[in-house]
Amino acid sequence: AVERTLSIIKPDAVQKNAIGAILGRFEQAGLRVAATKMMHLSRDEAGGFYAVHKARPFYGELCDFMSSGPVVVTVLEGEGAIAKNRDLMGATNPKDAAAGTIRADFADSIDANAVHGSDSAETAAWEIGYFFGQREIFSR
Ligand code: CMP
Repeated sequence: AVERTLSIIKPDAVQKNAIGAILGRFEQAGLRVAATKMMHLSRDEAGGFYAVHKARPFYGELCDFMSSGPVVVTVLEGEGAIAKNRDLMGATNPKDAAAGTIRADFADSIDANAVHGSDSAETAAWEIGYFFGQREIFSR
């Protein structure tokens, strides 16, 4: 089925000048950019986005890192977009990420891991709504 998923190019990858390279991988894999924007999240905005991880020991550092510099938030659309995006990203920890994945090629650590992607249809809908209104998303 055609799905939508939320991608975030994290501050480390933006700093590395890798926005175009990463969006290019999505497009080359058949995903379409339905919405995209650059933002510098406040610590509270980062904390709200990752509220599901609030009780985890890494939550504070995650919020600090995600508000440390600009990010690119993107709605990707296409057949099986959620799983396809996760395949393209590779494992959360770049040490475990398969060769040729975005995290293997651009990530430095489990915190500075280049990209975020929604992990389910339910999460994707919530995450897209966190950043975008209906009128900012363009299907083709
Ligand atoms: P992301 O997909 O953005 O979702 C939550 C983020 O927390 C994750 O990527 C990692 O960058 C970060 N993180 C830090 N430590 C861990 C951990 N032990 N397990 C999962 N995610 C972690």
